[in-house]
Amino acid sequence: MAGIAVSTRNLVKVYGGSVRALDDVSINVNRGEVFAVLGPNGAGKTTLMRILTTQLKPTSGEAYVLGYNVVSEDDKVRKVIGYVPQEFSVWTDLTGYENLLIYAKIYGIPRHEVNERIREVLEFMDLLDSSRRLVGTYSGGMIRRLEIATALLIEPEVLFLDEPTVGLDPAARKNVWDKLKTLNKELGVTIVFNSHYMDEVEMYADRLVMLNRGKVVAQGTVDELRKSVGGEVVELTVDDADRAVHVINEMNGLRINDVNTESDRNIVRIIVDNAEEALPIIITSLKDTGVRIIKVSMSRPTLDDAFLKYAGGKIMEEGGLHEARIVRTMIKRG
Ligand SMILES: Nc1ncnc2c1ncn2[C@@H]1O[C@H](COP(=O)(O)OP(=O)(O)OP(=O)(O)O)[C@@H](O)[C@H]1O
Ligand SMILES: [Mg+2]
Repeated sequence: MAGIAVSTRNLVKVYGGSVRALDDVSINVNRGEVFAVLGPNGAGKTTLMRILTTQLKPTSGEAYVLGYNVVSEDDKVRKVIGYVPQEFSVWTDLTGYENLLIYAKIYGIPRHEVNERIREVLEFMDLLDSSRRLVGTYSGGMIRRLEIATALLIEPEVLFLDEPTVGLDPAARKNVWDKLKTLNKELGVTIVFNSHYMDEVEMYADRLVMLNRGKVVAQGTVDELRKSVGGEVVELTVDDADRAVHVINEMNGLRINDVNTESDRNIVRIIVDNAEEALPIIITSLKDTGVRIIKVSMSRPTLDDAFLKYAGGKIMEEGGLHEARIVRTMIKRG
């Protein structure tokens, strides 16, 4: 089980001579790991995944999957990987079973094994009962599970998933992840997934890389990255966040590691060494200058805090703008 499943060295991808989608990306994914590529819109997540799954050639640098070079040994790579793209990859006017038949043909699964393989993946993804229904009648979660089922037909050693749960409700997300966890834990499949959901990465990834504008900004386990922010978080809801930030920055006698604000929600996050000690001092200072405090809470740093520290911005823009932009699109199928 030990060893490296995926690695890249100084990977660069430039589109059309000017868009630097990947800029010197070097990562390592261990065998048997669940590994996340976390980053905002346009960070380069899909570009990285397309290179690793041999659909796109890098401009420079190297990438390997289970020791095979993704450019010069692309046929070998394709035999050991499964890929679930960000876009729709099944036909809605066919049944689940028919979709799997087509993929079995694309993957060249021997005829005498096809029926058994299809049955196995349908059963594993809890789709056996609905396999004779048109995919057009499936829920979003069922469609995602069918797409994963198609990727499992070849019994991959490394499974790549691009935004596996985008647009799904919490129950459907959990359902998809229960299956992925089983694949990882019981069958030892290495899982590499892209996401912009902090909570999904925190909950399921063993390790992750944070990408921003094509660059690696941080890499490590979820815990390492959270801890690397240093200290604890005091979160205040106030009537005037900008003024509060100003007051806190001017305060004497307290070490503040970082202050940031989500001004449209009037929330100020202050990172300090010890939240319990800092809180009374902060509250007194704010009261003295007339800032009204509506709510107070204390917590450990999140991956959001880590991203803010390393990339200097937030992963998710407020108001669901990002979500709206990456709603999955249909690929035109001929
Ligand atoms: N075929 C292409 N031609 C030109 N530019 C491209 C192409 N594909 C992607 N880009 C650009 O490269 C950058 C990275 O895109 P990519 O799709 O890899 O990001 P992403 O992290 O997957 O984003 P999202 O969260 O929206 O899926 C973006 O600036 C994007 O506009
Ligand atoms: Mg993408």
